[in-house]
Amino acid sequence: MGNFNLFICSLLEILECNIISAESFIIPLLSTLLAAFWIMVPAYIPNPVAALCGGGTPIDFNRTWSDGRRILGDGKTYRGLVCGVAVGILCGGLQIWLVGTYGWDLPRHTFASVTLLALGALLGDMGKSFFKRRLGKDRGAKWPIADQYDLVVGAFLLTLIFDPAWLLSEITLPILVMILILTPLLHRSVNIIGYLCGVKKEPW
Ligand code: CTP
Ligand code: MG
Repeated sequence: MGNFNLFICSLLEILECNIISAESFIIPLLSTLLAAFWIMVPAYIPNPVAALCGGGTPIDFNRTWSDGRRILGDGKTYRGLVCGVAVGILCGGLQIWLVGTYGWDLPRHTFASVTLLALGALLGDMGKSFFKRRLGKDRGAKWPIADQYDLVVGAFLLTLIFDPAWLLSEITLPILVMILILTPLLHRSVNIIGYLCGVKKEPW
């Protein structure tokens, strides 16, 4: 019993000193969280902006696929796409300016990275809608996991194709893990806010 207590005490000591201590755990965790968020801002912005200003001509021009269902559906419009990508790029431009002006120690965006992330996020969203329709899910239907990660897959895939050097140097493994944790949490929160404000028809 004595040995066991000693063991637990030592374990707690190690936890306290090395794992939960501010310098070695909490600060790196928060800085990884901030870096992950900073990288993803140009990809996170387009979806809510599209929901705010979307409408008008659908991207698929009302056309149907060979299965008789819409190619993308009424939830994907040119106005949403253009406004979403434009505001995503503007926010990324602001981030580039902030880091350049104040020298903040944050991941470095470039004009290419913010454009690819913003456009990729909404292309991922369109890709998801395409597969959603093929599975017979109606516009707005819930599709867990795909609904949350479509923007990450689209943004990273497009950046990997056109600017792999930037992607591989900025997205380290800890940042990637943080993005995978942060994205569904933010997605859900923003959609609930959008739903409560009446901007989104569904809270997902
Ligand atoms: N939106 C848009 N154009 C886009 C993306 C989104 O106009 N390229 C707008 C639409 O009004 C859409 C809303 O943003 O209804 C919410 O987007 P999202 O949840 O992605 O679309 P859903 O309506 O859920 O459609 P889907 O089932 O195809 O995902
Ligand atoms: Mg939806």
